[in-house]
Amino acid sequence: MNLSFTLQSLLLGLLFSFLLYLYSKNQRSTKKPTIHGLKSYPVIGHLPHFIRNSHRFLDWMTEILLQSPTRTMGFYSIGSTSGILTANPANVEYMLKLNSSNYPKGERTISMMEDFLGHGIFNSEGDEWKWQRKAASFEFSKKSMRNFVVETVHFEISNRLLPILNRAAEKGVKVELQDVLERFAFDNICRVVSGEDPACLTEEGFSGTSSSKEFMAAFSDAQDLSSGRFLEPFEDVWRIKKFLNIGTENRLKKAISIVQGYAMNIIRSRMLKGMELDGREDMLSRFASNKDHSEVVLRDVVTSFILAGRETTSTTLTWFF
Ligand SMILES: *[C@@H]1O[C@H](CO)[C@@H](O)[C@H](O)[C@H]1NC(C)=O
Repeated sequence: MNLSFTLQSLLLGLLFSFLLYLYSKNQRSTKKPTIHGLKSYPVIGHLPHFIRNSHRFLDWMTEILLQSPTRTMGFYSIGSTSGILTANPANVEYMLKLNSSNYPKGERTISMMEDFLGHGIFNSEGDEWKWQRKAASFEFSKKSMRNFVVETVHFEISNRLLPILNRAAEKGVKVELQDVLERFAFDNICRVVSGEDPACLTEEGFSGTSSSKEFMAAFSDAQDLSSGRFLEPFEDVWRIKKFLNIGTENRLKKAISIVQGYAMNIIRSRMLKGMELDGREDMLSRFASNKDHSEVVLRDVVTSFILAGRETTSTTLTWFF
C-alpha cells in the first residue's frame, strides 16, 4: 500500500468525520431540515426516533442516508439535539474545500472537545488552527518525515503484524483482526508522533498490564466518550454530568487524565534529555524544536496526531479485509 497516500487519507478521513459532526451541530437553520421516511412529531420533532436509535446511531444514520436521494438528512426538535448529516461527496467538498470559511467549528463544538483535545489542530480555528496546519503540512512534505513513516510502518509490519498472522495460520487459530489492526495502527502512530513505541502488537502488549496498554485503552475511551457528548438527546446534559462528576463524564475524566499523563511523561522526559532534534524524526521533536511551544501545546499536538492516525487507519484496514 502506498504509505504517503495512507497517511494523507487517514488525516483526511479524520477531518471528514469531524467536520460532519461539526457541521451537523452548528447548523441552526430557520427552515426545518427535511428528513426522509421519518415521521416528525409536533414540537418534539424527531426526538423519539433519536432516543430510540441513539444506541445504534451509526447504523440508523446509514439506513436513513441510504434512503435519501441527496444522501443528506436533518433532524430537529425544540430544545434538544438538532442537526444535519450528509454523506454526499459534493456537500463534503463544498464544506471542506470550496467554502470552508462558511463552516467554522463554532464555540459550542470546541467547548465539547476541549477537555480531550485542548486546542490541538482538530479543535481550533483561525490563527490557532493555521499555524498547526502549516507546521504539520510542512513537516509531512519533507522527505525525511516520509522516510521515517515508511521505516516505522515497515518495522511494524515485518516484525509484528506478519509474524502474528503467520503463527495464527500455522496453528490454525482464529485472530480478532480488528483488535490486531487497532494495535498495529496505534504502535505506528505513536512512534511517528512521539518517537515512543507502545508495543501494543507484541506478546506483552496482548497479555501484560503495561502503561502503554492502559494508554491505548484510555485513548479509545476518551475518544468515544467525548464524541458521546454530541449524541446525548438533550443538549448540554453532559455539562451537568461533568459538574457532578457522574456516569460517562466521570469515566471520561479518568480516561483523559491517563491520556494526558502519558503524553506529558513523554514530553517531560524528552525535555530532560534536551528537545533538540539530534537525529530524532518524530513529530514531537520537530514541533519541540520551536522553543515557543509550551508543554500543554505539545501535549495537544501529540494527542491530536495520535487521534488522526489511530482509529482512522485501523477502521479502514478492517473494512478493507
Ligand atoms: C461561498 O459562500 C459565499 C457566501 O455564502 C458565496 O457568496 C460564494 O459564492 C460561495 N463560494 C462558492 C465557491 O460557492
